[in-house]
Amino acid sequence: MEVFSDKEQIAHVIEGFKEQQLTIGFVPTMGALHKGHLALVEKALENNNKVVVSVFVNPTQFNNVDDLKKYPRTLEKDVLLLETVSKDILIFAPSVDDIYEGNTVSQHFNFDGLEHEMEGKFREGHFDGVGTVVKRLFEIVKPDNAYFGEKDFQQLQIIKKLVSKYFIPVNVIGCKIHRETNGLAMSSRNTRLTENQKKQAPFIYKTLKSAKKFFGTKSANWISKWVDTQFINNEVLKLEYFIIADINSLKQISRKTKNTKYRAFIAVYAGDIRLIDNIALN
Ligand code: PAJ
Repeated sequence: MEVFSDKEQIAHVIEGFKEQQLTIGFVPTMGALHKGHLALVEKALENNNKVVVSVFVNPTQFNNVDDLKKYPRTLEKDVLLLETVSKDILIFAPSVDDIYEGNTVSQHFNFDGLEHEMEGKFREGHFDGVGTVVKRLFEIVKPDNAYFGEKDFQQLQIIKKLVSKYFIPVNVIGCKIHRETNGLAMSSRNTRLTENQKKQAPFIYKTLKSAKKFFGTKSANWISKWVDTQFINNEVLKLEYFIIADINSLKQISRKTKNTKYRAFIAVYAGDIRLIDNIALN
């Protein structure tokens, strides 16, 4: 297990792999790893000769200073956890300076409107930050395949757009959402939940599953109103948004059309902790 902090060093090792015609799988993360991350790593290990996992809490994608400050940083634990999956993983844990070279700002992107929906509305500049860091990481790691979770479905669609717009030669592979047995989508932020918040949080997925059940017979508007009422009296979970959207445009729909795939997306606050989740509806 090798941990690199220097981008030149890891790029050099990867060059060596490329000369040997070895394929590179890449899993970008912000650390505080859990089984959801590990599932991406396992998929990468199955389909590539070498796997790189980056651990980098990217400051430019945080629109909230406090969230950035409180984001869990557990590199030693992360290394041990990755070791339980395979000892043949390269970990890339750069410093902010290594990635941003003294200029910690985002590039501005046009993702054909995907960036203005949902998370883009509530987290100003978030996808510019994500696009900036992922593009730089791709330039350093030069992966053949890169793995992203459907947990952040909008991010996954935006990365696919980034790759096609900038002709970056990498396959972007989406992976299913990993959940706790109680249904709560695994997230690094879950470690910050209080016992009571933890008890309440599975209600998010329960609501999504009900929305899916209703989707066959009720309108998107009806379902959205129903979800609103479910959260009105919840003392612990505060609904930020619930949206039913076309999976390609990510635009909220008011009416279903045939041969279109839809997902329901939700963002909820438990205290100051923001949780997101989504579910395929058809
Ligand atoms: P992070 O939140 O650490 O997530 C890293 C990857 O793991 C993302 O692709 C995310 O969708 C996936 N993931 C997280 N929880 C998951 C779960 N429960 N099931 C399946 N996949 C899950 O997403 C980021 O970091 C950053 O934005 C990043 C892409 C690294 C850029 O900074």
